[in-house]
Amino acid sequence: MSDHVLTERDEAVLTIRLNRADKKNALTRAMYDAMGAALSAAASDDSVRVVMLAGGADFTAGNDIKDFAAVGDRPANSPGSAFSFLENIVAFPKPVVAAVRGYAVGIGTTMLLHCDAVVASETARLQMPFTRLGLVPEAGSSLLLAARVGTVKANWWLLSGAQISGAEAAASGLASRAVPDNEVEPAALEMARTLAALPPGAVAETKRLIRAPHAAALAEVMAAERVAFGERLRSAEAQAVFASFLKK
Ligand code: COA
Repeated sequence: MSDHVLTERDEAVLTIRLNRADKKNALTRAMYDAMGAALSAAASDDSVRVVMLAGGADFTAGNDIKDFAAVGDRPANSPGSAFSFLENIVAFPKPVVAAVRGYAVGIGTTMLLHCDAVVASETARLQMPFTRLGLVPEAGSSLLLAARVGTVKANWWLLSGAQISGAEAAASGLASRAVPDNEVEPAALEMARTLAALPPGAVAETKRLIRAPHAAALAEVMAAERVAFGERLRSAEAQAVFASFLKK
């Protein structure tokens, strides 16, 4: 497992923790692979009932821009670690609770749409700056975000890439609740423990039923996003933004 992704156990709760603080937990391909592997292992481990996703002072500044810039070095149809991780989290059969502090950018926000509960710091800074980067939404956010927060907010957040505070995320339904920064992890762990104490078969079946009605539409949207995202990554617009970020 990458040193940049750690796992911790609190009885039946497995925490997958992003651990690349000097880069605000920007996600490399190795980190996506490690997160996906941890989810796969947790799915088949009966002693794990709930997964908690956490960072530290920041949740994650999103995909590593250096990896985005290097996309031209890989074949257009290469599997893509981020998309494999997303497939993992979409299919994950047990509850996932996220503890979000600091920055949650790009996939740092959109992965929350696949979590069953999200505790955000009131001062967390969520953002889906896809258009600012010359990109398009991913993780099914072009479908799921509107379902959570309504079309008007989803349109604005995705089109403009505006920043959203943790407090606003909770008020809008993107997060379950917002709490003071130092209470985020305890509150998330408490929600995770609550779910972990329930009969796991009933919890898994409930999660399956909640998600089933939208599963086909989600898969279709994610496939379309993936094609568009791959094209945009290679576009001159996006590559110019990446180059300017990396020059700083
Ligand atoms: N990819 C690669 N490196 C990143 C990164 C990312 N997504 N986000 C932050 N970093 C790095 C910075 O380059 C910097 O590295 P350095 O110390 O070697 O120079 C370090 O993390 C700290 O980031 P910095 O930009 O100095 O912090 P800040 O507090 O001024 O700004 C952000 C924080 C998150 C607003 C800013 O880093 C940012 O905009 N990051 C890119 C976010 C993004 O567009 N992600 C992709 C979404 S699809």
